[in-house]
Amino acid sequence: KLMDSLLGLQQMEKELSRYLGIRNCLIVSGDSDRQPLIIEDMGKLVNDILGKELPKGKNVIAAMGGTTMAKVATCLTPEIAVDRDLTFVPARGGIGERLDIQANNVCGLMAEKTGGNHRTLYVPEQVSEDTYRPLLNEPVVQEVVNLIRQSNAAVHSIGEAISMAERRSMPKNVLAMLKERKAVSETFGYFFDDKGKVVYKIPRIGLQLEDLANMDCIIAVAGGSSKARAIAAYMKNAPEKTYLITDEGAAKMILKG
Ligand code: G3H
Repeated sequence: KLMDSLLGLQQMEKELSRYLGIRNCLIVSGDSDRQPLIIEDMGKLVNDILGKELPKGKNVIAAMGGTTMAKVATCLTPEIAVDRDLTFVPARGGIGERLDIQANNVCGLMAEKTGGNHRTLYVPEQVSEDTYRPLLNEPVVQEVVNLIRQSNAAVHSIGEAISMAERRSMPKNVLAMLKERKAVSETFGYFFDDKGKVVYKIPRIGLQLEDLANMDCIIAVAGGSSKARAIAAYMKNAPEKTYLITDEGAAKMILKG
């Protein structure tokens, strides 16, 4: 029975990779909407992939925030730091979410778990352009931003557009605009419609979508049937080398179309 279900998952991984047009999908059994503990199974896979894909020597890994990423961070191990010098940097500012799920915190935890280093970016998510422009000229901010833009790996989750906008307390007019443009997916502060087209970008510093092109390793980790649409939308135009780590709940729903 176990063998059957493993073969079933492997088959589904192949189908999902083909459907989304990416090289690798990994699926854990269950649905994290109902079984939040399986996020740890996804986290272990993130650790495996990093261990396999990161080059030896110096690595700068950009990580995002969110509840999934906070859980994933706890699953990293010192084994992936053998023969490597790891530095975790927050993909963007992102102060404004609950403290424990902010990218800065996720990076701190990843560094602690692997014995690596981390850097912090003290730039709030919701400030006016007039406020954050001068912040960019601060050497400490500039240094971290440069490091982020030179990162050779990224680990991120994917969220549902509207719930992410609400959770981050984005202004009402922006929320209305996102609905009007039919945003369904969010990652790295970019919002996407069903076709994977960017319909809005939070005007903030940090990792830009085009930075992904040159990376050695990109991992998107998101599960739960409620995220199926958001995952499918982002993955449509995501770099082909992106590893998608997801669960059965999301995978089945995506494959239903
Ligand atoms: O950008 C996507 C979000 O970080 C996903 O957040 O893991 O709490 O659903 P979540």
